[in-house]
Formats: sequence, C-alpha cells, structure tokens
Amino acid sequence: MDINSIKNIKSFKALAKENLTSELYEYLVGGADDLRTFQRNITAWSQYQIRPRRLIDVSKIDTSTELFGQQVNAPIVLAPIGILGMFHPEGASGSTKAAKNKNLAAITSTVTNQSYQTIVETANYTPWFQLYPTTNINARNTLVKRAEDNGCKVLVWTIDVPVVGNREKHAKMLVDNVHGRAAKMGNLHDLIGPDDIFHSPSMTWEFLDWLKQNTKMKILLKGIMTHEDARIAVDRGADGIIISNHGGRQLESDLSTIECLEEVVKEVAGKIPVLIDGGIRRGTDVFKALALGATAVCIGRPYVYGLAVAGQKGVERVLEILTEELERNMRLAGVTDISKFNTNFVQKAQDMIQ
Ligand SMILES: Cc1cc2nc3c(=O)[nH]c(=O)nc-3n(C[C@H](O)[C@H](O)[C@H](O)COP(=O)(O)O)c2cc1C
Repeated sequence: MDINSIKNIKSFKALAKENLTSELYEYLVGGADDLRTFQRNITAWSQYQIRPRRLIDVSKIDTSTELFGQQVNAPIVLAPIGILGMFHPEGASGSTKAAKNKNLAAITSTVTNQSYQTIVETANYTPWFQLYPTTNINARNTLVKRAEDNGCKVLVWTIDVPVVGNREKHAKMLVDNVHGRAAKMGNLHDLIGPDDIFHSPSMTWEFLDWLKQNTKMKILLKGIMTHEDARIAVDRGADGIIISNHGGRQLESDLSTIECLEEVVKEVAGKIPVLIDGGIRRGTDVFKALALGATAVCIGRPYVYGLAVAGQKGVERVLEILTEELERNMRLAGVTDISKFNTNFVQKAQDMIQ
C-alpha cells in the first residue's frame, strides 16, 4: 500500500481496525466506564471555533519551536503508550525512530517491551521517559536513575493512575496481556516482583520534591486537570505540566482536556510550559490548543493507528499529516509562526456556551 495515499487520521484508524484483532483494537480505542470522558475529549474540540486574520503574508510558515531545550519541527509530541510491541513488532523503537526522522519529541512509557536503553540505542534518539512510580521504591529510584544515565533530559511522571480505571470492555485484556506482562518487560523485569504493581496508590506531592533533589532531568507532571493542582505543581518546582485525562481511560465523567486548558494556563501564567493531550485528531485541534495557550500537544492513539498499519513508516505519515494540517491552518488563519498564537485566534462557539 502506498502510505502517502492515506490522507487523515480517520483513515488510519479504519485501516488499523483491519490490521488488529478485535480484542486489541477495542483495547486501543477503549476507555473507562461508558466512555463519556473519552467521547468528550473528541467532541469538545468542535466547540471552539477559529477566528482567522486576513491579508497577512503567509508565504512562509514556521511550525518549529523549542521544548525543554530541544529544537523540534512542530509542537507535536508522541504521548507515552504502553506495550507498543502488541500493535507492531517495531514497537516503541519504531515510533521513536519516526519521531527522530520528523525531528519531533517523543515520550516512551515505563511499560515498553524493550528497555529504555535498548530503545535509545535502536532509535539512536533519546525520547523523554514516562515514569509509573511502582510500589517498589528501589525499582522506582532505579527507573529514574537509568533514564538519566541513558541521556534522558525530560522525565514525565504520570499522576493519574493511583489505580487503573474501570475499563470493562478490555478488563480481561488488561489482566492477561498488560498487567501480567508488564512486570516481565524491558524496564521492569529485573526490578519488580510478583507483589509489586507498576503504578502506586500511595504517591503524593512529596515525590516531586524527591525527584527535584535526585535528578537533573526536567520534571513534567502528566495528568493535571485543575488550576488548583497546576498551582501546587508550579509552587513545588515542576518544570512543565501535561493536561491529560489519560485519553479517557482513567476517571470517567471528568471534563475534556481542552475545557481545562484555559484555567490551567491562567493559573500557570507563563511560568512553565503547559502541554495537553486527549482527542487531538486534526491540525485544527493542534491550532486551537496553541491559541488557547498550550506550548505543545501530545498525541496518543493516532500514532498507534499509524504503527499498526505500517510500523515506523506509518507513524511518520501520521506525524506528517498532523504537521501539514497545522501548517495549512496557520496559513489559512494568518499565523506565521508559533510565537504568533494568542487567544484572539479562537473562541468558544456562542451557540454552545452553556
Ligand atoms: C493503549 C494506550 C496505552 C497507554 N499507555 C500509557 C502509558 O503507558 N503511560 C501513560 O502515561 N499514558 C498512557 N496512555 C495515555 C496516553 O499517554 C495519552 O494520555 C492519551 O492516549 C491521549 O489521548 P488520545 O489517545 O486521544 O490522543 C495510554 C493510552 C492508550 C490509548
């Protein structure tokens, strides 16, 4: 198949469905409870409209930006997804290589088939490392140290999994394939035992203090949804925030992420970068996030569709589509580079304000 003939994320999703077993596909597209947060993540983007400006010279558009000291071609980051090897043998090494080839940032999960070190060596690229602080303190500390020793500059601590969400549709899949296998995987097999779990219900803000004292890596908190927590994150020295509800897979009935963006951006007041993920499927979604004050977006399922369809090349095509869509929309709306985004470029649709 000519991968360039795939024009949008929706088509990638349809092709991924053909390539995956129904169980695996359901696991990928699924979420918690009745999927209301998952669906809200997608539909909420439609409630914001773009306000385009005219007669601006848009013959040159620059989507590049800097994220935590790294110069990237666009503010689009690969979100951490566990066990990518289930979707394609190239797994996290393939998606990381794709990010490298497109000069974009990527985050790899704690729960990857290969170790972080192997991914770094195979991809010849250093992704950010996502930390699930396991219940085993020695394992937790070693995970942090190993990431840093392998050149990682940005540690993403996922804070929305004190317990796994209620994923009824793929509960069996989780138990059989994810939790059962996680302990045997790349980063964890020599660190945790049968009684340890990879997330930890006892974590509090004090672990951020510990991280600040014990590593030079930048620390991002992934899973912030309120201005109250954004305030604590800033006060306690986090280097960045990712607004996220885990793609609607954890708590159900919380707000969509875009609905939280304004309150978090206002509270943070430019002190640290605010990233966002959840439901981003088009360049217009990326545009709206940036206009509302996000420094960058992360994408989850869309690149896994690409991986399932054609491995690394599929991820590259997904990244190309989103970056091209962003560029086209910036041109159409009169935004010549990332620094020109501001809230005047977007408004909540009047007929939808409740
Ligand atoms: C199959 C799957 C596995 C995931 N695994 C992880 C993980 O290991 N660590 C993590 O922090 N988030 C994980 N997430 C959440 C993503 O990082 C991200 O927050 C979410 O997918 C964003 O929403 P989107 O898929 O609508 O783009 C996972 C999401 C999915 C769909």
